[in-house]
Amino acid sequence: MLDFAITDKTHDESRQGEALVLTPSGDKAARKLYIESYGCAMNFSDSEIVASILSEQGFETTADYNQADVIFINTCSIRENAEQRVRNRLREFTIAKVKNPGLVVGVLGCMAERLKAKFLEEEKLVDVVVGPDAYRDLPNLIGKVDEGQKAVNVLLSREETYADISPVRLNSNGINAFVSIMRGCDNMCSFCVVPFTRGRERSREPLSIVKECTDLFNRGYREVTLLGQNVDSYKWNGREIEGQEQENVKVVNFANLLEMVALVDPELRVRFSTSHPKDITDEVLYTMKKYENICNYIHLPVQSGNSRILDLMNRTYDREWYLNRVDAIRRIIPECGISTDVITGFCTETEEEHQDTLSIMDYVQYDFAYMFMYSERPGTLAAKRFTDDIPEAVKSRRLKEVVARQQQYSYARLQAQLGKVQRVLIEGFSKKSDKDYCGRNDQNAMVVFPVHENYKPGQYVNVLVERTTTATLIGVVV
Ligand code: SAH
Ligand code: SF4
Ligand code: F3S
Repeated sequence: MLDFAITDKTHDESRQGEALVLTPSGDKAARKLYIESYGCAMNFSDSEIVASILSEQGFETTADYNQADVIFINTCSIRENAEQRVRNRLREFTIAKVKNPGLVVGVLGCMAERLKAKFLEEEKLVDVVVGPDAYRDLPNLIGKVDEGQKAVNVLLSREETYADISPVRLNSNGINAFVSIMRGCDNMCSFCVVPFTRGRERSREPLSIVKECTDLFNRGYREVTLLGQNVDSYKWNGREIEGQEQENVKVVNFANLLEMVALVDPELRVRFSTSHPKDITDEVLYTMKKYENICNYIHLPVQSGNSRILDLMNRTYDREWYLNRVDAIRRIIPECGISTDVITGFCTETEEEHQDTLSIMDYVQYDFAYMFMYSERPGTLAAKRFTDDIPEAVKSRRLKEVVARQQQYSYARLQAQLGKVQRVLIEGFSKKSDKDYCGRNDQNAMVVFPVHENYKPGQYVNVLVERTTTATLIGVVV
């Protein structure tokens, strides 16, 4: 049974499990790394850090795991099905290892952190288990495996942000890039495994972020997405910046950081994810309003529309607070796109409480949503305190209702763009045809239009929207 649904095909869930590659240099002697990522954008971004660390050691990436000397799978623990998918894939890799005993198979990311050395007992053919804060140790760990040992490093750190590592951009279109601005999470949403797999929240030094964005811009990139589990709690406490005390940079909050990145260049689009309803401030909204190049799009996960359930989820806001934040967004940035995450069938959720989720969707009319059935995760507060008492069939029926409701609004939001001119950053050819380009508008909706000789990927173009499919705007260059 599918335990999740998304109405936005442009989001990363569609990238699950894709092999990440960099064009090889053709050096035959280089050891080959195959790396495959699951889970959130943070994991995809981390894989680029891993590739960077290993490229320093002379590794090249390959798209074919049968050619690889090292196979890494960067894993996600967020729901049981996410872990199941990883295990199935891992079976295929371990079969490759039976044929080629010299092959190194490693498990990275959140499942590695959650299961630690237990992974090696459960999956006997795995050689390396490495948590998200231990990637600098990879060369050493691979060395141990080369000597015939198993290697584990799942130490979490309070400081590691990989700030100085310049990520190797994998599978890149040369236009959009993820930039990690913080790691970990200090919230304790009762359903969530992330605080256990990613450790304490810490913010990355701001000038290193600005430098990475500037470098990307100079290399032709035109859009950065600033990543964190809760970007609104980004905070740099005026510690030393690049070895010297900066007099004018004392405390940098998320609004300040957004502004610093927006100022890199007006032609660089800035996006960010994820915003937490308890922390998103009007200051952030006014900063978005002030800079044309900060995209008018906010991912604001609601999880549930009912205050009692939100309390059990330990989300630390209630329905009224959430709606107040939505009203603030609509007041300050009327054109802003809003998307969300919803969980159906959380412990003790009644039919009435489920209706509150549907009614909050009616109020906000989200542009997109990621929707999930509750999946109990070992070790979380909810697993310890509550019984996972909603039957699968009920969770699934509620999910269907939520999905059906969202489809109406996703479609209506696209329809509202008919006849309007949108500024689109061309990302490349559309998936279906090389006669069409695709790119996203400011609100993150995908726009498809016939290739125009005057424009190429990486440029901005004005597109008149003439029709829509269920998930895409279709138009012509004007
Ligand atoms: N930091 C982000 C979310 C990260 S996880 C935030 O706070 O919004 C992405 C989404 O997965 C969550 O928003 C939630 O909707 C979903 N999710 C997390 N744990 C889950 C679980 N145990 N069962 C079902 N969905 C879950
Ligand atoms: Fe998980 Fe909550 Fe942190 Fe998001 S804010 S990562 S849902 S604990
Ligand atoms: Fe999954 Fe870890 Fe991200 S659990 S959603 S990969 S932080």
